[in-house]
Amino acid sequence: MHQLGDLERTCYCGEIAEDLIGQTVTVMGWVDRVRDLGNLVFFDLRDRSGIIQVVTDNSEMARLELAKTVRSEYVVAVVGQLLKRDEETINPELATGTVEVHVEELRILNTSLTPPFPINEDVSASEETRLRYRYLDLRRRPLQRNMLLRHNVALETRNHLSEHGFYEIETPFLTKSTPEGARDYLVPSRLHRGSFYALPQSPQLFKQLLMVSGFDRYFQIVRCFRDEDLRADRQPEFTQVDIEMSYPREETVFALIESLLKRLFALIDVEVETPFMRLPYDESMARYGTDRPDTRFGLELVDVSEAFSETPFEVFRKILAEGGCIKGIPAPVGQKYSRKDLDVLADFIRQYGAPALSWVRREEGELRSSMPKMVPAAEIERVAELAGLGEVQSFLMVAGTPKTVHDSLAALRLHLGQKHGLIDQTKHNFLWVHAFPLLEWDEDEERFTAIHHPFTSPRDADLELLDSDPGAVKAKAYDVVLNGLEIGGGSIRIHQQEIQKKVFNALRIDPEEAQQRFGFLLEALCYGAPPHGGIALGLDRIVMLLAKESSIREVIAFPKTARAVDLMCAAPSPVDDRQLRELHVQLRGL
Ligand code: AMO
Repeated sequence: MHQLGDLERTCYCGEIAEDLIGQTVTVMGWVDRVRDLGNLVFFDLRDRSGIIQVVTDNSEMARLELAKTVRSEYVVAVVGQLLKRDEETINPELATGTVEVHVEELRILNTSLTPPFPINEDVSASEETRLRYRYLDLRRRPLQRNMLLRHNVALETRNHLSEHGFYEIETPFLTKSTPEGARDYLVPSRLHRGSFYALPQSPQLFKQLLMVSGFDRYFQIVRCFRDEDLRADRQPEFTQVDIEMSYPREETVFALIESLLKRLFALIDVEVETPFMRLPYDESMARYGTDRPDTRFGLELVDVSEAFSETPFEVFRKILAEGGCIKGIPAPVGQKYSRKDLDVLADFIRQYGAPALSWVRREEGELRSSMPKMVPAAEIERVAELAGLGEVQSFLMVAGTPKTVHDSLAALRLHLGQKHGLIDQTKHNFLWVHAFPLLEWDEDEERFTAIHHPFTSPRDADLELLDSDPGAVKAKAYDVVLNGLEIGGGSIRIHQQEIQKKVFNALRIDPEEAQQRFGFLLEALCYGAPPHGGIALGLDRIVMLLAKESSIREVIAFPKTARAVDLMCAAPSPVDDRQLRELHVQLRGL
């Protein structure tokens, strides 16, 4: 093996162009593929920019012999003359496909074991193997592209926000918990026996305090930590573009984010139309059953509760009497569902808590339904009328609590949209969901919880309702949604202490607890806190969508598995007794 010595790279492999023909170049990188033709050895040399073909001939036997020892993923330096390839060896697939480097000097800088999977565009290895050898997976072109894209997204974001008067300010990681609805990652304190820091679920309170401090416009590209159940679009640590500004209206935030997203999507040559559609929360729930609808296709929900207002069918009558509803989705016209298809769909919605799927179908001019005989024909006709049922069309219905009906039908709608190929993958449907309720009733805890977080401002007109009817209060909160994925959320905040206290009260956080957990905020609100508000965008999710990936793991350099494990460095892992003793931590019940 050789050393680098005083060799200096003159260019990246993928950036070599015909204008360098005749010149001596020095390139370095990994050997991609070797072809040994006896008296000629070819290999492709790869670095982060791409690939260049390298040829060693037999004009010097020692050099040729050395070239024959080279294997895939060896690291080599090549000094040689750049020449045009023979006509018949030109590779139109490759950016550098018309040229090749003729080796004058070859240095093997390192060898490589055979990698556990080939460093190719496509990978057949399991995700577990890829994560275990993440440094090799990252060497593959798609992940190299994703990381470059992520870099460009962060750069454009910084430039855009800086141009709009925002300062980037860092906030602490070792801090006190701010509730964002997930569990905290805790860090035991060595110096303060029995006390813990919490890693931030978001810098929410710090950014509000920065407004009290007078910075006026803040942003941070910041890691957040949440111990929650993971999915393809969730990681235990993830990155937010966190933003706060003084004196904004909701529309001020919307306009800023629209201009930023427009700029980010221009990176992949997508022209984003602004302003985005605004969809009030109630309308979103009524039409799509969710507050993050994918509006690239129809299949909107229809409420048919009215058809059963006097039904003799006990099950439906009870559901309606208890405040439930009956809604459904008119399936695509012409789509016939066999009994088996319907059983599969019923199983599907059961995962979302819906006990049964009912249906009404029009076929050959006749209405059929899954409803028991006692349900009068007039009720079924009314359903068909409300659903606007055409010839050869089914209406798929769920009855239950609004939550069950919405959760199951929202999932069924997406499922049918995908199954029947209704989703136009080229569309980018951005929208703002706004006018959220401030609070939602938590059945288990028997109290209201904040839909966004407890620092979100109620609408001015609803302040009176905070005491009398907290569930009816609407918030100055908003989410930005793209193709059914929530890519950001924020709100105008409470900036007056009495209102913050009232909201804590509605959340049944008693004054003592409020003081203990958020005393510093309540105090700060008394020192001339200006009206303020902001938003946080999920950077990983945005890069995932830009990269057309289906998991955020593909756009994070070192992600964790769905069980929150780093397979490469085996974290989390046990620690030794001495460390635990120093931290005054004793393990129980293992
Ligand atoms: P929120 O909790 O809505 O708001 O988070 C903002 C955005 O962050 C992204 N996100 C995640 N991405 C990956 N993995 C996760 N586990 C994860 N959790 C959230 C989402 C989400 O829209 N402090 C408020 C913001 C504010 O009010 O200004 C907050 O954190 O894209």
